[in-house]
Amino acid sequence: MAGQRVSRRTLLTAGSTSGLGMALSAAGCREAPAPLSPAASIEGPRRFPTGFLWGTATAAYQVEGAWNVDGKGESIWDRYVHTPGKIKHGDTGDVALDHYHRWAEDVRLMQDLGATAYRFSVSWPRIFPNGTGAPNARGLAFYDRLVDALLGSGLQPFLTCYHWDLPQALQERGGWESRDTAQALADYAGYLAGALGDRVRHFFTLNEIATFIEWGHGPDSLIAPGLRLPAARLNQARHHAVLAHGLAVQAIRAGGRPGTRVGPAENVTVGVPVVESPEHVTATEQFMREANAGYLTVMLEGRYTDRFLARAGADAPRFTPDDLKVIGSPVDFVGINVYMPRYVRADETQGFEAVGWSASHPRMQSPWHYIGPEALYWGPRHVARLWKASDIYITENGCGAADAIAGDGRIYDTDRIMFLRSYLSQLQRATAEGIPVRGYFHWSAFDNFEWTGGFGTRFGLVHVDYDTLKRTPKLSAQFYREVIERNAVV
Ligand code: FCB
Repeated sequence: MAGQRVSRRTLLTAGSTSGLGMALSAAGCREAPAPLSPAASIEGPRRFPTGFLWGTATAAYQVEGAWNVDGKGESIWDRYVHTPGKIKHGDTGDVALDHYHRWAEDVRLMQDLGATAYRFSVSWPRIFPNGTGAPNARGLAFYDRLVDALLGSGLQPFLTCYHWDLPQALQERGGWESRDTAQALADYAGYLAGALGDRVRHFFTLNEIATFIEWGHGPDSLIAPGLRLPAARLNQARHHAVLAHGLAVQAIRAGGRPGTRVGPAENVTVGVPVVESPEHVTATEQFMREANAGYLTVMLEGRYTDRFLARAGADAPRFTPDDLKVIGSPVDFVGINVYMPRYVRADETQGFEAVGWSASHPRMQSPWHYIGPEALYWGPRHVARLWKASDIYITENGCGAADAIAGDGRIYDTDRIMFLRSYLSQLQRATAEGIPVRGYFHWSAFDNFEWTGGFGTRFGLVHVDYDTLKRTPKLSAQFYREVIERNAVV
């Protein structure tokens, strides 16, 4: 592999001098231009800061399989996928990629990418089969092995405590509608920090509260637990989830070690100004605060905005001043999952107006996925400006592309390369301006179980054949490896 890389680079240099240079002189230039130097054109201005972390992200339910192995309890996702008609083609995560048994190969594949970090989630019901009570040592042993293998391979583990797989037993006791679930999550997170905090330094509390609350409990529900709650109950469930975040921040600090660091991994709605002029930029910042009021804004400010409470009216969540203090517990970093932008303009009466999504790229597979690379510039910029975040991670970014296996058995996923190159260019603009983004986690390392979309939507840098479970790096894996190696957009 390394040999291949050397020869590609040699080819690039040779091409720029003898190929392009000769063509220009032949076309009649008086002087042949100076040879293009990869160091100047690529590794100079398009570089990321030294020490920038490059990783990939996955979630337990989407990759592990082994759904009822080694004492694991049932999760709301196990229950949901086993309910006929919920998931495309009746797919389930019962086996998924069988990462639970093939973790060693998967760690090797990430090492081959040259990645320096890996974001994964722990399955709560593997550790506490009923949500609370006595921990299951066999479940923990899996993550022990994984963490050791990651560290041994030069990959920093970034652990997400909750990526949507609530123990079914807790759902039966009210799920996120119950305040006790928030405390149970904190107890579980504190336990993880105690058990793994000697080796894991970075902990994320909950993944995308915005998604699992709205799309699992709201009027258009299509993910587990598949409830359709009236507004007041929905608002209360959301409040309990952000409360769980705050309680977990405190529990992880208490359970961890002196260097333990903790923060959210939230799906932000990112406003992009229609024109980069001061009035539209200011309007977009206001939009960003309000569009995320029930999630990141309350977590980072410890208060619900006036507009948010006015909009909710009589259905607003019930909370105490102490709740808000807990929710706003200081964090060490802010993780944001960024997929697409909303375009925003200044409006004289309301301050701002969201005027639309970006264009839909016809070949991106997820119907929700509008393409807009500027989101990866504006997302971190808003987080840094609005909330003075000193460390930001892009905890997810990626695309479902129309990956087909070519006649030679390879996967030339040029859609994903187009996506990565354009989004990373915007991220590089952010870091070049001094916005404190410390790392990027591509969603995802491997094709995996894409929730309601089942196995039909492929987000991986590595292709998975779901019949044989064979893993094959796609062309985008090669692209990403070059990005990592040069620490630059290539
Ligand atoms: C995010 C989820 C992640 C994955 C990607 C495509 O919303 O956090 O699990 O499904 O979307």
